[in-house]
Amino acid sequence: MKRIFKDELVIKIRELKKKRDAVILAHNYQLPEVQEVADYRGDSLELSRIASKVESKVIVFCGVYFMAETASILCPDKLVIMPDAAAGCPMANMITAADLRALKKSHPKAVAVGYVNTSAEVKAELDYCCTSTNAVAVVNALKGREEIIFVPDKYLADYVSRKTGRKLIIWNGFCPTHIKVLPEDIQREKNFHPKAKVMVHPECLPQVVAMADAVLSTSQMGKYALESSAKEFIVGTEVGLVYRLKLDNPGKEFYPASERAVCPNMKRTTQEKILWALEELKEEVRVSDDIRRKARAALDRMLEIV
Ligand code: 13P
Ligand code: SF4
Repeated sequence: MKRIFKDELVIKIRELKKKRDAVILAHNYQLPEVQEVADYRGDSLELSRIASKVESKVIVFCGVYFMAETASILCPDKLVIMPDAAAGCPMANMITAADLRALKKSHPKAVAVGYVNTSAEVKAELDYCCTSTNAVAVVNALKGREEIIFVPDKYLADYVSRKTGRKLIIWNGFCPTHIKVLPEDIQREKNFHPKAKVMVHPECLPQVVAMADAVLSTSQMGKYALESSAKEFIVGTEVGLVYRLKLDNPGKEFYPASERAVCPNMKRTTQEKILWALEELKEEVRVSDDIRRKARAALDRMLEIV
């Protein structure tokens, strides 16, 4: 069998992408080889927004399942495919629609806010969706509401609660990757690089968040690094983001807070799998009409606020 070399693979992906009228979206944590062939890179919110605007018939979503589902909710007329549909988000899997229904039943007056890192079925039970970029703004917009449920990430909830001064009814979810960044990791890197700015994702432990100069989504980190006069940055999120940050800021240094902070699901997608996905137009990600309409309403209410 003829071996396909990487350059040849990239050429084949580009050719097939044109033929299929496809666009490749990649989350900021994807492998460099995936980012290399992507048409757009971004955080969860940016990728959803891009998905809803692109003209192409096919969206190849390189990320985790809930992100591709969100794209499908926003653009039901497009074919959304994932090169590896087994790439899930363990945090999103920590709450089911039945769990959320039970929580809402025990707090009947509460408004339900949920992180975009949730399944479509859970989104369909929400009043408002939010992302790491706008969670504070969404909760701030609910001033008239006495009780607020916030699921599934207890650490994002803790951050939002501190920033807004609102007591939230939370769920015991968390990101297994971000909790690997420990306060001692930040301290060690600060000792090595005393001039570096510390930026961390709000999914990190509260003790880590407390040590940060800035608490930001992945794309906000990119913007912060570009605009800051600082030359060095300690990066408290999934290590994949460092590749992007280095590429976009050639004169600056970026140090991962912890090399242990790897999201294995984000690394499942490869160039080979992208090529196969384009060849076979698989695996399709589609949400049933009823769930899609309800989930869409929660996403639209979020977009009205921000
Ligand atoms: P962003 O929206 O900041 O990209 O975060 C998504 C995510 O899954 C972080 O772990
Ligand atoms: Fe989910 Fe965490 Fe991976 Fe993000 S980094 S996709 S929250 S497991």
